[in-house]
Amino acid sequence: MSDFDYSFGERALEGRVVLVAGGTGGLGSAAVALLARDGARVVCGYRSDRQRAEALREAVKARCGADIQLVEGDISQADVRRRYVDAAEALGEGLYAMVCCTGDPGRVKFDQASQEDLHQSMRANYYGPVLLAREAAARMQSRGVSGAIVLFSTMQSVAVFESSINYAGPKTALQQAARILAKQWGGPQGIRVNVIAPGVNRAGMALKSIQSGKYDFFVEQGVIPRFGRPEDTARVVRLLLEPDNYITGQVIAVDGGLTLRRDRG
Ligand SMILES: NC(=O)c1ccc[n+]([C@@H]2O[C@H](COP(=O)([O-])OP(=O)(O)OC[C@H]3O[C@@H](n4cnc5c(N)ncnc54)[C@H](OP(=O)(O)O)[C@@H]3O)[C@@H](O)[C@H]2O)c1
Repeated sequence: MSDFDYSFGERALEGRVVLVAGGTGGLGSAAVALLARDGARVVCGYRSDRQRAEALREAVKARCGADIQLVEGDISQADVRRRYVDAAEALGEGLYAMVCCTGDPGRVKFDQASQEDLHQSMRANYYGPVLLAREAAARMQSRGVSGAIVLFSTMQSVAVFESSINYAGPKTALQQAARILAKQWGGPQGIRVNVIAPGVNRAGMALKSIQSGKYDFFVEQGVIPRFGRPEDTARVVRLLLEPDNYITGQVIAVDGGLTLRRDRG
């Protein structure tokens, strides 16, 4: 019989090295702040906006007392992916987990999209994240690390939204790739791979659309209780990274129920 002596763990990520690609963005920066506050050693990747990256580093230092390390470059390039992982491997016990928050909204309507537009979205939303996952997993596996990977897709790959082919197509491919990799890399000492599919957040790439009023009807009609906050996805990132976590191969919609489409009966 149970004596109700449960082990929930505190600061489970203390000292663990976590690479967060796209960690300076609207959603990624909250994950970086939360992980750093919880004692993880965070390597934060960004493409080119150094000013924003430095501002995040200073804010995390001031608010959480933690140092994060910045790495710059476009993860569609192999040498950049290697550099990101090298930076994490050089810290502490080496890479434990990778979170990929990079992405591109691919805002081109399908009837106007060129082949290059489709290719560009594949490069940003599929090739880069999946190849970074491969690079990170290879290093973890070479040291026998039982680690975790979290990739970011979108609600548009959970439910069907009109005109979203150029964005949802590659993100849906990413979701299936994650499930395949969770199977391929799983096992007793394996790597867990999961996906977060955010809804509409008042941050990052959805902010302008929210400010334009385009999504107000979701709240007005009670489809969602409020717009998402970066903290919502950050908390799920932390859960999925916890070392003794029991979740793998899953796509978790963090969307306030938006993909249930309560507006459509
Ligand atoms: N915000 C939302 O409501 C929402 C909704 C659904 C899904 N998502 C998904 O959630 C993830 C995070 O979104 P977000 O709103 O936080 O995005 P964001 O604010 O636009 O930030 C994107 C981040 O990724 C970096 N980045 C982009 N492309 C890169 C590349 N090729 N190589 C390296 N770094 C790259 C950016 O660096 P620079 O700034 O230096 O370019 C930045 O740090 C994305 O995958 C997005 O598709 C977001």
